[in-house]
Amino acid sequence: MKMNADIDVLFTRELIQERVRQTARRISEDFKGRKVLLIAVLRGSFVFCSDLIRELTIEFKVDFISLSSYSGAVSSGNIKVMSELREDPAGEDVIIVEDIIDTGITLDFLLKELSLKNPKSVSACALLNKKGARIKDVAVKYSCFEIGGQFVVGYGLDYNGLYRGLPYIAILKIK
Ligand code: IMP
Ligand code: MG
Repeated sequence: MKMNADIDVLFTRELIQERVRQTARRISEDFKGRKVLLIAVLRGSFVFCSDLIRELTIEFKVDFISLSSYSGAVSSGNIKVMSELREDPAGEDVIIVEDIIDTGITLDFLLKELSLKNPKSVSACALLNKKGARIKDVAVKYSCFEIGGQFVVGYGLDYNGLYRGLPYIAILKIK
């Protein structure tokens, strides 16, 4: 695929590290003495999740679910489960780990799926929160950054599979 795009750094590696650490601290305080089940939503959240877990001071298990909805920079709104959970969320304090909450459609879908499995609690933790873009009103208890409507890449986030390895978060301007 031929691509012509510019990137502008939005959040540096250092700032991301600091915010991830603060978020991990909040989670560790809120769930002190408990054990949580982190469910990382693939593929975008794998970088964030790997840094987050190394800052947690509570006990946890990690599982992954792979969901797909985006094509290029547009959400299709049509969620598909590409790969299922292996852990049983029943009776667990579940924390969903997402790269970014945009329309909220993906998180809403996942919350509904999970509620059928009787977890003790479910909360959401996102690296980025695009609050103004909501179609579904979902609660995001933990987020490292709130942003506007810009399409961002890096630190796990992609555009058509590219840019995931950038150590910073950048705004992608497609020309
Ligand atoms: P939602 O269902 O619209 O909330 O979208 C959630 C998913 O869309 C995220 O998990 C991302 O994978 C993807 N997404 C939304 N906005 C962006 C963006 O700015 N850059 C990269 N991926 C995005
Ligand atoms: Mg995603």
